[in-house]
Amino acid sequence: MSTIVIKQTKVLAVANHKGGCGKTTTVVQLSAELGKLGLSVLVVDMDPQANASLHIGKKHPSEIAITCAELLLSELEKLPQAIDEDTMLENVSLIYGSLELGRTEDELREHTPRPSEELRHKLKPLMGLFDIILIDTPPSLKLLTSNALAAATHVIIPIESGSQYGLYGVSDLMRHCDKIRKVNPDLELLGALLIRHDERQTVCKLVENAALDQIGRLIPIKIPTSTKVAQAAIAQSSIHAIDRTSKVAREFKELARWVTQTLGLKVTKDHADGE
Ligand SMILES: Nc1ncnc2c1ncn2[C@@H]1O[C@H](COP(=O)(O)OP(=O)(O)OP(=O)(O)O)[C@@H](O)[C@H]1O
Ligand SMILES: [Mg+2]
Repeated sequence: MSTIVIKQTKVLAVANHKGGCGKTTTVVQLSAELGKLGLSVLVVDMDPQANASLHIGKKHPSEIAITCAELLLSELEKLPQAIDEDTMLENVSLIYGSLELGRTEDELREHTPRPSEELRHKLKPLMGLFDIILIDTPPSLKLLTSNALAAATHVIIPIESGSQYGLYGVSDLMRHCDKIRKVNPDLELLGALLIRHDERQTVCKLVENAALDQIGRLIPIKIPTSTKVAQAAIAQSSIHAIDRTSKVAREFKELARWVTQTLGLKVTKDHADGE
């Protein structure tokens, strides 16, 4: 007799309304590494820029009938149609983002009784099916980000550590998370993730200390600056596939291990695969 395994799905939002701080890169590269560990991963692209979809999707977002935009405004039965299992990354499925998401925000506000809880409602049937769902968010604190945070069990806040403005606005984000906890009391902060970090640089050290001070929790893995990040996006692949020995590839692998341990996710594959 076969046993049915019900997974304890974790939902991880990657959020910071500061543009270009590394949200999409974190979602894509962390998904790739988690998929390589044998976990079943779903990426939900809530950004109208659809950068995560352009990176890991095999189709263009404009060709997709049910993206996040349509899913948010439709009935639940559209959900299976929204999930594309065939992506550029092993074990990673995708609900595409789309330019339409900009308009969706207005429609949610006008036509739904609880506009920030639609994604949570739409992802509910997937709880138990995936090990982890990663949500990419746009550079704003409006409804799309609120929906991601209201649907999430955990949040990672990427911070550009090489920039003196890396922490600008982060207190607004922390307040926003507190506001969301009124509808999603279980939302837990996994921590700030320092991106483009170089410990030899004074500015990085200063931003690191300030991040700990203002956010309260730092992820012990730090992502260095690397041209491999953009190369991977152009090649629509993981950094691991481009250069698995690079420091940035190793740090994303470490990040995946840290996430699995911290969230209690069971790894089924040894990643020391030499690919
Ligand atoms: N560690 C890194 N080293 C070098 N370049 C990086 C690194 N991380 C991100 N980048 C580059 O910085 C830019 C912004 O990264 P990314 O798209 O991940 O940020 P984002 O927060 O998703 O942006 P947006 O707010 O527009 O959605 C991209 O061009 C990306 O290639
Ligand atoms: Mg992005």
